[in-house]
Amino acid sequence: MDPISFSVQGKHVLISGGAGGIGSAFAKAFLQHGAHVTITDLKAPADELLQAGARFEFLDVTSDDAVLAVSKKIDTLDVLIHCAGKLKRWEEHQPEVFRNIVDIHLFGNVRLASAFRPHLKRTRGCMINIGSMYSYFGAPQVPAYAAAKTAVVGLTRSLALAYIDDGIRVNAIAPGWIATEISRGGRENPEFNDKLMGRLPNKRWADPEELAGTALFLASPASSLINGVTIPVDGGYTSA
Ligand SMILES: NC(=O)c1ccc[n+]([C@@H]2O[C@H](COP(=O)([O-])OP(=O)(O)OC[C@H]3O[C@@H](n4cnc5c(N)ncnc54)[C@H](O)[C@@H]3O)[C@@H](O)[C@H]2O)c1
Repeated sequence: MDPISFSVQGKHVLISGGAGGIGSAFAKAFLQHGAHVTITDLKAPADELLQAGARFEFLDVTSDDAVLAVSKKIDTLDVLIHCAGKLKRWEEHQPEVFRNIVDIHLFGNVRLASAFRPHLKRTRGCMINIGSMYSYFGAPQVPAYAAAKTAVVGLTRSLALAYIDDGIRVNAIAPGWIATEISRGGRENPEFNDKLMGRLPNKRWADPEELAGTALFLASPASSLINGVTIPVDGGYTSA
């Protein structure tokens, strides 16, 4: 292995929530760089991704059985990315809604990690989890989302240590403010948006493609010494 190679050529990548905004941008970037991509989601990805060679498997990450079933269909995996996500503004104060949101973001992460650990052990692969700015800051409107995203940082550290003898690295990306479906409610709320822009150093919602370079790097040999960390990719938000 060349430790300064940034290549992901020929790697097998699975992206949960891969039909969403960030997942699709990751799928596109890995395909463009010669990787084999499996997208899993509740909905089909854009035709463009299927035409570029992505494979699609329907998968609800809240189902233990479904995650295991998909893991049995996959022979080889080098990179596992958990991008499935949802939030429910204000409704997350209801315990049942809270449970569902944590189930997707946190338990979904654990289900995928557990099901694909043997695959990743065989390839000495890596996992990329997805945090959030709410991994670091409170969010009164989405308490379950913030609790789960904070827990993803701890899970990332813990799995990195637990899997180290398997040769599996586990890191996370904490995206800043990205223009996708999940953030539409915030973007279209003038009060929220004005407050955000008053604090956000780069003063704009970012494109999901702006996260892809970090995912490619974390999946490549160039990041071989990086393990257990969550990298904010946030236009300076956490520094402000
Ligand atoms: N957009 C942002 O500003 C932002 C910021 C920080 C973190 N994130 C995180 O990035 C990840 C991707 O979000 P996005 O911005 O692409 O949002 P998105 O809404 O575009 O995509 C989320 C995808 O997850 C899928 N999904 C939802 N529930 C699922 C389930 N039970 N099983 C499988 N798939 C499911 C949806 O169908 C959708 O395709 C999420 O974890 C999100 O929390 C996003």
